[in-house]
Order: sequence, then structure tokens, then C-alpha cells
Amino acid sequence: MALSTAAAGALCALAPVPNSVRPAAAALGPAGTLEASWTATDSFGDRSAQAGLIAFDESAYKAMASDRRRTPQFARAIQKRLEGKAGEWSVLDIGTGPYALLAIIAAKAGARKVYAVEAVPEAARRARLFVAKAEKNGDVRPGQIEVIDGLSTEVTLPEKVDLVIAEIIGSVASEEGAHATIRDAQLRHAKRPHDVSSWIPVAAQTLAAPCSYSLHSLLGPPEFDWAKLDGVPVRLNCRASEVQLLADPQLIEEVRFADPALPVTGRVANPRVRFAVDGARLAANAAVYAAEIRTDGSADLAALGASVASDLSGLALWPRLQLDDEGTIFVESRGPHGEAQKSHWTTVVALLSARPVALKPADQLTASLTVELGGAVTTPPRYLLRADLLPA
Ligand SMILES: C[S@@+](CC[C@H](N)C(=O)[O-])C[C@H]1O[C@@H](n2cnc3c(N)ncnc32)[C@H](O)[C@@H]1O
Repeated sequence: MALSTAAAGALCALAPVPNSVRPAAAALGPAGTLEASWTATDSFGDRSAQAGLIAFDESAYKAMASDRRRTPQFARAIQKRLEGKAGEWSVLDIGTGPYALLAIIAAKAGARKVYAVEAVPEAARRARLFVAKAEKNGDVRPGQIEVIDGLSTEVTLPEKVDLVIAEIIGSVASEEGAHATIRDAQLRHAKRPHDVSSWIPVAAQTLAAPCSYSLHSLLGPPEFDWAKLDGVPVRLNCRASEVQLLADPQLIEEVRFADPALPVTGRVANPRVRFAVDGARLAANAAVYAAEIRTDGSADLAALGASVASDLSGLALWPRLQLDDEGTIFVESRGPHGEAQKSHWTTVVALLSARPVALKPADQLTASLTVELGGAVTTPPRYLLRADLLPA
């Protein structure tokens, strides 16, 4: 994807005297600590913040359903898990959405009964229509799928189920309330809560890598004050070239669905991870930015692009889902090395300082993500991201 119009516009605006007007890079605090904190629903507008749940519009539901890296993998995992269990296993689909997508896949794969629970009344109403259509087409048996209105944490099912499907994974894996939803499902809905084969996915992970973000480098006070974002991360398409990774990605958060100690309240301190700034990545990033900029024909701007390429703006975060117990079916919103690719999930860029920090190859960065959980699925998690820079 080309540099966004806004980014290209920002570059062009700087064209006459680019290096002299470029906002200064940050001076680090005394201990070299960089941080960001935000609440899960912060970037999603009033409706989400009021309900406490991240809400989706029609285009978001469509993007999920047609995500070719996601939906077929779920179908594979569901079919694999129900193989040999046709007519026997009962299934709960938490957050079935307006198309009852995964519920219908499970029913077609032979589930004896599928309970499809949805918290948003309009989505549940439409899910019923899709189920009726699937019944009429003979794709599923009448009554095989039952759509239930409400939060999974508030409904009582007629029976405990053999398999829980829960695609409630955000761009930061836990941001859609996975801890509270899954812990409740372990206690009240699953027959074998601590058996990994009771869950799809079996784990939801957040990957992270330090990144440059061209707009952050190119725009600064007085025209634009990034501090006004107050820690709320920027969310970008996973293919956006405005964001380039400076190091290989690391696992910064993991929610294991069969975990008997899955927390629902308090602070979850995920293990600290270490990144080494990769000179080859910086050179490749400079080439990407320069290629975008050269279309403008300005050598000054190409040099500016090269310097943007080694700026640390923050940590890029994105999800990876492990769907099967053997660890062979994964859904990744970026490639295995963090490559940009098409996905309905966003790449979340948590800016770690008001101005970017210039890095060099072999500099190191350690980072940890602490998640504060409020107990209920409608209490959005709060995130605290801390990073320390260790210059080479
Ligand atoms: C990411 S969408 C997934 C929709 C659909 N399952 C799919 O895979 O395309 C998540 C859906 O779950 C619903 N949801 C989230 N947490 C829920 C919960 N604990 N109980 C019921 N619905 C929930 C949301 O309203 C939303 O419709």
C-alpha cells in the first residue's frame, strides 16, 4: 500500500526546508523509560465506551467474515475438532455475530447442538435470520442451532458443552474481554474446561515490535501535539506502509483458554521481552519510505525518509490465534516476521513518547505489557506498556 494521502501530504508540506522544520526527536526521561497507557475501548467512540464492549458496524462484521486468513482457518479447526464426533458434541459459539458464521460451520461439521450467543440484540436478530435460511436450504437441521440473546457471562445454557468457540479476539488479543468471558465459560459452560480440546481458539496472543510511524516523525508541535492523544494508540490497517518494524516481533501477551489460573481481576504482568534493533530492517524501511517519497522527485525528502526509518515511535501490536491443540492451525494478522499483509484486524501503534526517539542498529529495547482487569466483560481492560531503551 502506498504512503497514505495524509502522510504524503505531510511530506509535501515539508518540501521547501524539510530537515530544518522537522520536529525534534524526543529527549528521553532520566531513566530512559518510555510508556503508554490506555483503556481497551478508548479508540472506538461513544457506543463502545458506553456498553463497555468493543462494538462493530456492518463493514467490520463483513471484513471479519471475508478475511481469507481467518475464516477458512476457523472452519478447518472446527471440522478437525468435530471429526468423529458427529451427532454427539454440543457447541457454544460465544459472540456469534450477525451471520452466525462459526455456529453454522459447526452445525454443518456435525455438532449435535450449537448454542449461538450474541450480546448485541440487532446482531442476534440477524443471526436468527441466517440460521433460518441455513435451515431452509437444508444446510443445518431445524433446531440444531439456537441463537441466544445476551452476554455469555449472563446466560444459562440447558447443558454444559463439549466445545466452546469464541472469536472475541481484538487487535490486542485481550481487549474484547477474553479473560472474563473465558473464565466464566470455564466455570459454567464447558464440560471439560481445562482440556485444550474444549476450546477454539486454544490461545490468543499479542505480538509486538518497536516501530517507526512516519506521521509521528513528520508532524509535531505546534501544528500537531501527539501528547493530546493521551496514550490512546493509533490503529492502522495491517498493510499501512506508514508503520515499519525496527526489530523482530516478540510475544508480549498470551491468554490460554484452558488455563485453570486464568485471571479475571487485578494486574496481569506479562513477561518482559527484549528487542534488538535490526540494521537490515532499518535499511529496508528507509528504502520503503524513500520509494514512496521519490515519486515526489525531491532528494531532500528521500533523506528525510531515511531518517524517519530509524525513529522509534512506539510499539506495534497485533494478534495471533492458535486454533488447534497440536499447534498447526494459526491465524496471524501480520506475517510470521511481522510482514504487512491483508487482515481485518488493525495494527495498534502505542506511541511511547510525544516525539520519536532516533535509534541505531544493535540498540536494544525491553518492554512489558501490564493488563489491569476489572472482573466483568463490560469493564474494559486497561493497558500499561513500559519500555526501556538500552543503547548499543
Ligand atoms: C469479533 S466478533 C465475531 C463475530 C463472529 N463470531 C465471527 O467470527 O465472524 C465478536 C462478537 O462477539 C460479541 N461478543 C463479545 N463478547 C461477548 C460475550 N461475552 N457474550 C456474547 N457476545 C459477545 C460481539 O458483540 C461481537 O458480535
